[in-house]
Amino acid sequence: MILLADDEPAFQRLTGAWLRGLGHEVEVVGDGDAARAAFAAKPFDLVLLDLAMPPHHDPEAGLALIAAFAPAPVVVMTGHADHALALKAVEAGAWDFLAKPVDPDLLRVVVARALERARLAREVTMLKAQAGGDEDMGLVGASSAMTALRDLIRRVAPTRLPALVLGPSGTGKELVARAIHAMSPRAARPLVPIHCGAVPAELLESELFGHLKGSFTGATGDRPGLIETADGGTLFLDEIGEMPAAMQVKLLRFLADGSYQPVGARAPRMADVRIVAATHRDLAAAVADGSFREDLFYRLKGVVLRTPSLDDRMSDLPLLARMFLRRASEGRGSFAPDALDWLTARNWPGNVRELRAAVECAAALAMPAAAGVIVGAADLAFAVGDVPAAPIHAVFGTLDEEVAALEHRRIVEALARTGHNHTHTARELGLSRVGLLKKMDRMGLR
Ligand SMILES: Nc1ncnc2c1ncn2[C@@H]1O[C@H](COP(=O)(O)OP(=O)(O)OP(=O)(O)O)[C@@H](O)[C@H]1O
Ligand SMILES: [Mg+2]
Repeated sequence: MILLADDEPAFQRLTGAWLRGLGHEVEVVGDGDAARAAFAAKPFDLVLLDLAMPPHHDPEAGLALIAAFAPAPVVVMTGHADHALALKAVEAGAWDFLAKPVDPDLLRVVVARALERARLAREVTMLKAQAGGDEDMGLVGASSAMTALRDLIRRVAPTRLPALVLGPSGTGKELVARAIHAMSPRAARPLVPIHCGAVPAELLESELFGHLKGSFTGATGDRPGLIETADGGTLFLDEIGEMPAAMQVKLLRFLADGSYQPVGARAPRMADVRIVAATHRDLAAAVADGSFREDLFYRLKGVVLRTPSLDDRMSDLPLLARMFLRRASEGRGSFAPDALDWLTARNWPGNVRELRAAVECAAALAMPAAAGVIVGAADLAFAVGDVPAAPIHAVFGTLDEEVAALEHRRIVEALARTGHNHTHTARELGLSRVGLLKKMDRMGLR
């Protein structure tokens, strides 16, 4: 879709008609403000911009407008065939310029090229998102849920607002926290994570705030807390829902004014720390049942980011699975045709973490072939325990058990390699088709 911004009615009519005749969708506006408003409302691929429009008819104002249409390419039109102005426009970010009166054939070519560029730019953005997230975000996914999450991270990161990351287990909450830090002005300072549920309640205070020598038995020297370590950076409070009540009060004080008191210290200290907290628990419910302080809850949720369950973004599963396989196999792995079907058909209560573990395990189990590691549905079923795994190196088993385990493994691997083609599998293993099927029945592989 093309946005045509020009104040001359005759030019609007003729150029609009010409472009529509070429098969483009065109929206026409007559001044800069209207152009901005139209651009904000619809996803235009290209902007044709007259540099001298009302109310000022001032080319400088037109130049200032160019940046407002990023990332769409802007082609400027100058009324005076003013070469210097055209160059300024290109410096200001315009993709190309046309002198008025505009030659229709030139217009056709310039528009086609600009639209092609816009298409390529979109493709690059999409590929980047697929290849592993842009700007080192590490969050893979092209679904609308992930795109929205990345957008929000990008907006939240530069601020100092506390961020609360909510979502089911294994959905990437820690990745989100790391991305917020990495894209913030604090990136050069440390990101300090603490798992609030894993540190015993008695130790948590000293862990976070530090302690002075002799403040308790075993405190043989001064020790800085994680808050001090994180000064200038970010403190990641993981599993904040597990934080004991006594610590919730002290944390609240720190969030309120940046002051904290090391164990055994008389005077409070200050630290400049950005807080990112995460939990898979329903914090609002914890507030309702009294196990989590309401005032702390409101302090923490400056911005709430939600990581979607894998179920809610199944379109991302192939991207994720391929990435995990690529990493696990140093780029030498691929999926057999049945593998992705198998992965998509399954439920993933453990979300991305479970998917990752399954793919990594299957890649390790799968038989290396000449072309690299080929992971089939059978390897995956094996990996997640849907098929009882046969011990392969049953050192202490009987000879019969070892033979059975080897037989099982060879069949599973051959099935994976042939994409569950029984005829090919049987041929590969030197069995008759019926013989193979009998063995598969016995092993529960059908
Ligand atoms: N969008 C994603 N792109 C790539 N990897 C992901 C994504 N989401 C999760 N992962 C991977 O899944 C695993 C779990 O992610 P993470 O530890 O961030 O989850 P979590 O939400 O913190 O889980 P929990 O609540 O259990 O702590 C990690 O190995 C992480 O790299
Ligand atoms: Mg986590």
